[in-house]
Amino acid sequence: MCGIVGYIGQNDTKEILLTGLEKLEYRGYDSAGIATLGEDGVHVTKVKGRIAALREKVDNENDATIGIGHTRWATHGVPSVQNAHPHQSSTERFTIVHNGVIENYMALKKEYLEDVDFVSETDTEVIVQLIEKLYQKHKSTKKAFGEAMSLLKGSYAIGLIDAEDQETLYVSKNKSPLLVGLGEGFNLIASDAMATLKETNEYLEIFDKEIVLVNRSFVEVQTLDGEVINREPFIAEIDASDTEKGTYPHFMLKEIDEQPIVMRNIIREYQNEKGELKLDKDIRKAMQKTDRIYIIAAGTSSYAGLVGKELIEKIANIPVEVHIASEFSYNMPLLPEKPLFLFISQSGETADSRAVLVKIKELGHPALTLTNVPGSTLSREANYTLPLHAGPEIAVASTKAYTAQIAVLAILAVDTARAKGIKLDFDPLQELAIVANAMEIITNQKEELEQLSNEYFASTRNAFYIGRSMDYHVAQEAALKLKEISYIQAEGFAGGELKHGTIALIEDGTPVVALATQENVNYSIRGNVQEVVARGANALIISSKGLEQDEDAFVLPPVHELLTPLVSVIPMQLLAYYAALHRDCDVDKPRNLAKSVTVE
Ligand code: G6P
Repeated sequence: MCGIVGYIGQNDTKEILLTGLEKLEYRGYDSAGIATLGEDGVHVTKVKGRIAALREKVDNENDATIGIGHTRWATHGVPSVQNAHPHQSSTERFTIVHNGVIENYMALKKEYLEDVDFVSETDTEVIVQLIEKLYQKHKSTKKAFGEAMSLLKGSYAIGLIDAEDQETLYVSKNKSPLLVGLGEGFNLIASDAMATLKETNEYLEIFDKEIVLVNRSFVEVQTLDGEVINREPFIAEIDASDTEKGTYPHFMLKEIDEQPIVMRNIIREYQNEKGELKLDKDIRKAMQKTDRIYIIAAGTSSYAGLVGKELIEKIANIPVEVHIASEFSYNMPLLPEKPLFLFISQSGETADSRAVLVKIKELGHPALTLTNVPGSTLSREANYTLPLHAGPEIAVASTKAYTAQIAVLAILAVDTARAKGIKLDFDPLQELAIVANAMEIITNQKEELEQLSNEYFASTRNAFYIGRSMDYHVAQEAALKLKEISYIQAEGFAGGELKHGTIALIEDGTPVVALATQENVNYSIRGNVQEVVARGANALIISSKGLEQDEDAFVLPPVHELLTPLVSVIPMQLLAYYAALHRDCDVDKPRNLAKSVTVE
């Protein structure tokens, strides 16, 4: 949550900050601000709302060469200009941007800052006021910054400027992501490399609780005790054009359309020169060794995890439990002797998942992370990583990361099964190639799906999705997709469970989308459809070729039955997309949400 960008260089500070923030808007977009420092002092501009509004408000005459910017997802205090970052200390000497949550901000306020008048309701203002207070003691910004960082409890990524020093950007992090971007005569900081790709592709990692002094021509990383750390930079292999919409009206539509390409990328990345499945040997060993897998994830990734459970149990014969990360941390089940933790996360930064990772590492259990962002916190801190190769996903509603997660889970399941000597008539690479073609056929049927979306969702206030076995998991993801971008209240239900209470909500015209892609439950799900139709529901049945019946509205091209979620989710994504579009919703940035949730 919240995006940070900072720059120290020669010129164009304001433009670099604004462009960076535009790329980070997916992290939060309820308010934004920048602070720049030049010969004429510090200028702070803040708005409630989007970066576009900030762009309109900033002063074009500004010739600063150092600055910090922030786009916010509110935690402490409502979205407002007052609560927007950057925040300043009382004398306005120090200016800060912060991402994260300071758990002891009340205690710090009480202990150090009782005489200070606060202008915002944020935990962030406590940090900057504390730095000013500590400056009075140390008469050194570096020392004041270092001591303040050592007093903070919680998560933070911080950029600070000192009005009396145009040569240094003070930086630190704990649990929240932050990188330093390296350039010729300039340096940058950003929550995500995507924000600064226009300027550089060379980055320096920052670890938790380090202090980083960023100058125009050098970057110094230190421990909290002042010990200097040498670290090699790395090149971020992201294509800047992947972060642009191109001719698409929305990132979500672009990302839906990219799914066949992502499947082909995964096939390429997970095969050797002989065209055989290729997977890290250590991961294979860890999979063979475990007696139970725990999948930990949030949101869409947890729904991919439910499909993953089916794949691993059915193909590799290992028991799997799927847990929502935010629950697992506080309510851990009894663990077997040799658990393996499998974290699924598009961003690799989800704080709830990271909290679990920290806990299970303390217990000494191994962890494997499936993520779209190698180098992210969950990837770095786990023992093993399996990359998704989906390319940057910008729209808040996840689409291509979900299908990439399922595809990689299928590869993992098959590799494990083979290593265990289980005979399979299933070549995942060949099957995924069939899936990629099927995805392409569906994404070419947009007009049909737009029409169905209008017919079923144009004026409804609620909707249900039903399915059995694999289809039930897709129904849950489909409902999430619809509600998060169109604000239609939607629920995904197991077909047989609806009648145990929830069927009371079915009225004349209530849309019920049913999935029928699994042969063994084809007749029972159709029976469930009859139950809701008898109570007035407007049923839309989506089935697989070979299982279809006359009343079905949409028939999916055939793929291996275990991989049907990869294709059945695509009409669901498009139905949700068009429902949101026709309701004039902000498809890529739905209200109240953020893509990367870095607070617990
Ligand atoms: C947020 C996003 C969801 C995403 C979830 C988990 O809530 O809005 O789209 O599924 O976080 O994110 P992750 O990056 O861990 O997959």
